[in-house]
Amino acid sequence: MKRVQLEIVLGTVFALMSVGILTVMAFDEKNRLAEFEQSQRAELIEFGAAVYEINCTSCHGSHAQGVDFVAPCLRCEELFTTRLEDIGWDGGLEDYIISVVTTGRQISTRPAEFVGGGSPAMPTWSEKLGGPLRDDQINAVAAFIMNFEEWALNPDAIPTPIEEVAAVDDPVARGFTLYNQFGCGACHTISRLSAGIVGPALNGIATRAATRVDGLSAEDYLYESIVLPSEYVVEDFLDNLMPPNFVDLLSEDQLQDLIAFLMTFEEE
Ligand code: HEC
Ligand code: HEC
Repeated sequence: MKRVQLEIVLGTVFALMSVGILTVMAFDEKNRLAEFEQSQRAELIEFGAAVYEINCTSCHGSHAQGVDFVAPCLRCEELFTTRLEDIGWDGGLEDYIISVVTTGRQISTRPAEFVGGGSPAMPTWSEKLGGPLRDDQINAVAAFIMNFEEWALNPDAIPTPIEEVAAVDDPVARGFTLYNQFGCGACHTISRLSAGIVGPALNGIATRAATRVDGLSAEDYLYESIVLPSEYVVEDFLDNLMPPNFVDLLSEDQLQDLIAFLMTFEEE
C-alpha cells in the first residue's frame, strides 16, 4: 500500500471511531441528563413534603388523605381523574394545584363535605398575595401532590395511614399524628403546631383541663371534650362546632393517644 492510501484508510478509521465515541458519549449524556432531572424532581418532592407537613396537614391530614368535614384528600383517585372536569379547569393538574394553593379558596366548592377553616375555606398561600409561601415552595408542594398519582390510581398499593400510625411506639407521637390527621388543628391553635381559631387554643390545656369540671381529672375531661363536645362548652366559644362524631371515628386506643399528646401541654 502506498503511503498516501494508508493515510486515507487510517484517517477513515479514526473518523469512524470518533463518530462512534461521540455517539456513545452523547447517549451517555442523555442518560445522565435524565438521571439528573429525576434526582432533581425527587429533591423537589422531598422539599414539597416538608412544606406540606408544616402548612397543610392541619386540614388535609398528615398523609394528604383528607379529613372529613374539613378538607379533601390530595392523594385520591378523584383529584387525578374527574376533579378538573367537575370544576371546569382547562389546563393541567399541576397548574391547577399551583393555582389553588397560590390564591387559596375563599368558599369551598363542596361546602357540605369540606368547610376548611370557614371563611376563607383555605387561606391564600402565596407571598405575592400576602400569604406565607414563596413560589419555589408552592411549586415543590405541587410536585409532592403530583407524586401521589401512581398510588391514587392503584389505591390497593397504599398502606392505610391508620396502620402506619399504630406502628409508632410513642403514644404522644401517635397522638400528634392523629391531631393532624383528624383536622383538630384546623380549629385549634397550639403554638408552632397549628393555628385554628374556631375553637379554644390548646396551649396549657393539660393544666386547665384539671380545673374545668369538678370531679373530672384532666384526662377524663379531655376524653369527654373529644367524644361529647357539648357536655361542657368552653366560655366564649360556640356549641355544636366541634364535630360530634370523633367517638365513631377514633378507636379507644386512638383517643388515649390524643389525650397523651394533649397532656404534654402544661401551663408555663
Ligand atoms: C384551613 C384548612 C386548609 C389548609 C391549612 C389547607 N387547605 Fe387546601 N383546601 C382546603 C379546603 C376547604 C379546600 C377546598 C375544597 C373544595 O373546594 O371542595 C382545599 C383545596 C385544596 C386543593 C384543591 C383540591 C381539589 O380537590 O380541588 C389543593 C390542591 C389544596 N387544597 C392544597 C393545599 C396545600 C398544598 C396546602 C398547604 C400549603 C393546603 N391545601 C392547606 C382547606 C385547607
Ligand atoms: C370544626 C372545629 C373543631 C374541630 C375540627 C375540633 N374542635 Fe375541639 N373544639 C372546637 C370548639 C368550637 C370548642 C369549644 C366549644 C366546646 O367546648 O365544645 C372545642 C373544644 C375542645 C376542647 C376543650 C378545650 C378546653 O379549653 O376546655 C378540646 C380538648 C378539644 N376541643 C380537642 C379537640 C381535638 C383533640 C380535636 C381533634 C380530634 C378537635 N378538638 C377538633 C372546635 C373544633
